[in-house]
Amino acid sequence: MKEKIEALRREIEELNYRYYVLSDPLVSDRDYDEKIKELERLELDYPQYADANSPTQRVGSDINLDFRQVEHQYPMLSLSNTYSEREVRDFYERTVKALGEDFETVCELKYDGVSISIKYLDGALSQAITRGDGVHGDDVTANVRTIRSIPLKLHGKDFPNEFEVRGEILMPWSVFDDLNRERIEDEEPPFANPRNAASGTIKLRDPKIVALRHLDAFIYYVLGEGLPSTGHYENLTKAGDWGFKVSDAIKKCTNLDQILAYIAYWDVERKNLPVATDGVVIKVNSTASQNFLGATAKSPRWAIAYKFPPERAVTRLLSVSYQVGRTGVVTPVANLEAVQLSGTVVKRASLHNADNIEKLDLHAGDNVYVEKGGEIIPKITGVDVSSRTLFVGEKITFIDKCPECGAKLIRIEGEAANFCPDKNHCPPQIKGKIEHFISRRAMNIDGLGGEKVGQLYDSGLIHDASDLYTLNPADVLRLDRWARKSVDNLIGSIRRSKEVPFERVLFALGIPEVGETVAKRLAIAFRSIDCLMSATIEDLVSVSDIGIVTAQSVLDFFADALNKTFVERLKSFGLRFVIDDAVLSGNSDILSGQTFVISGVFKKHSRDEYKAMIEKHGGKNSGSVSSKTDYILAGDNMGPAKLDKANSLGIKIISEDEFLEKTGG
Ligand code: IVH
Repeated sequence: MKEKIEALRREIEELNYRYYVLSDPLVSDRDYDEKIKELERLELDYPQYADANSPTQRVGSDINLDFRQVEHQYPMLSLSNTYSEREVRDFYERTVKALGEDFETVCELKYDGVSISIKYLDGALSQAITRGDGVHGDDVTANVRTIRSIPLKLHGKDFPNEFEVRGEILMPWSVFDDLNRERIEDEEPPFANPRNAASGTIKLRDPKIVALRHLDAFIYYVLGEGLPSTGHYENLTKAGDWGFKVSDAIKKCTNLDQILAYIAYWDVERKNLPVATDGVVIKVNSTASQNFLGATAKSPRWAIAYKFPPERAVTRLLSVSYQVGRTGVVTPVANLEAVQLSGTVVKRASLHNADNIEKLDLHAGDNVYVEKGGEIIPKITGVDVSSRTLFVGEKITFIDKCPECGAKLIRIEGEAANFCPDKNHCPPQIKGKIEHFISRRAMNIDGLGGEKVGQLYDSGLIHDASDLYTLNPADVLRLDRWARKSVDNLIGSIRRSKEVPFERVLFALGIPEVGETVAKRLAIAFRSIDCLMSATIEDLVSVSDIGIVTAQSVLDFFADALNKTFVERLKSFGLRFVIDDAVLSGNSDILSGQTFVISGVFKKHSRDEYKAMIEKHGGKNSGSVSSKTDYILAGDNMGPAKLDKANSLGIKIISEDEFLEKTGG
């Protein structure tokens, strides 16, 4: 049986290699899955033949990693960076001089991810260590095993018994885009670039989640005793034969012109690659020459990196506009004369905040540098002062009044943002409140997105959310982009929202500090809006988990005459302002006193359903991990920051199945 299991493992690894390294699959996904299933079955039946390098282990195990710090056998040096042809020429000439003869170089792409060092013993992956400080790194072996382009067992026979490879772990653009889309949906901050995403992923403490992130890896260096060749290029080619993914872009050059041509070619062509690159690495090929040249404390003398210039364009600053967000924060945006940058036309760039405008010393009509670094949104990085004429435009200063409602802007001490305080009269803030009111977890009114709310508001049909209940269908139908059917849907959905239970209506009011959980606690504690509105601060803080800040916010909200009228109007339209008995019954207290954080994507129920279940059983939901968290209910693609924090605080992570078992769901 042992032979059969091993043969199947070899066969699957070969299929992996064809798929992930050569991008040339041998069999259909379905056949592949069947083989994996068969192997899993055999491994379950014959646990005595378990092997950490079995392809079934690539999905990651359940163990949580507490990374062990280990010392690198060979320190992981970095490369000295150069930014110009001149510096590359200097490197070349310096090296010819030191070696006393012409030499072969190898040009490679500099992949922009995280570096990794992987040790192989007797043809099997034994340990993978991050760069760390170059001398010590984190043992991330279990995570690296999930990367399918990294072989667990090597092909062929001519590898040394013990050697290391160095390479770059990457998150392909397509995976990065999907991950960020999910994170935004999940209300988690998106990663700024694929490098950050890859580095966050490889440090995750749950290899299962790493496996879902589809990382890739290129190997760019082989080191150890008894390597097959005395040339770096030849050793890398051999590594390709052993099953490693080695870039097709590596090229041997025999003179400086070839190196410069390589740089020029890839500076353009790299834009078509599926992964991020930030330069070219130029290495002396002969390992004997490498040893002769040696290294400084930081970097080898036999290699340099040439970094591609960030994609930058110069264009004219036409004006600065100010956008008021739903929370009242005012963001300055530069309007630019259209310019091509990294294949897109850029007309606007973020200016972030008042301090940044000041730092740039912007004047109207300035020629400004626009860059797209590793980040996605272009930014202004400087002014071409030399192109200013005698007639310099007026200095740009941050506005002091809200462009939407004219209120005087305020800035909170210690914060970078300026914001408009007049939340009751400032149109974007009012629209924001209406959007919150209709949102799925609040009144769940379909058929209205942000744009349509804007349209109804701008056309004067609604002034606040309560006007939705008196909307005249004929008026809506007269507006652009509305048809009979969509109007009927909207009106139906508004009517149905009158059945939404009190706790969600309370949440929909948009009282600052009152999120879903607090709204529910208040609804259960006070049972009706009338009781809540007449509550004192003492009454409010006596409710479990309601602190002084929330209590004061509730008082302030109901002290405002406009809010009172708003509530009265909603009442008159028949919305529910009394708790439903059903909410109070059917509950249990098995989760009482326990705080949960829900993170990731789930298969069996939606996040909202899980939240409701937690509350139904007396537990509490929280949006962020803290020392007060008891459990994290984790689905797929849980955010790495949350995971790290949970691990450092020793918080238990449970899967949806474990949760359902616990609650009898
Ligand atoms: S060679 C001693 N080759 O760039 C040799 N590095 O500072 C050291 N990198 O973090 C590295 N692509 O992870 C080499 N083709 C390539 C590379 C590469 C990316 C990274 C490497 C390191 C940094 C160099």
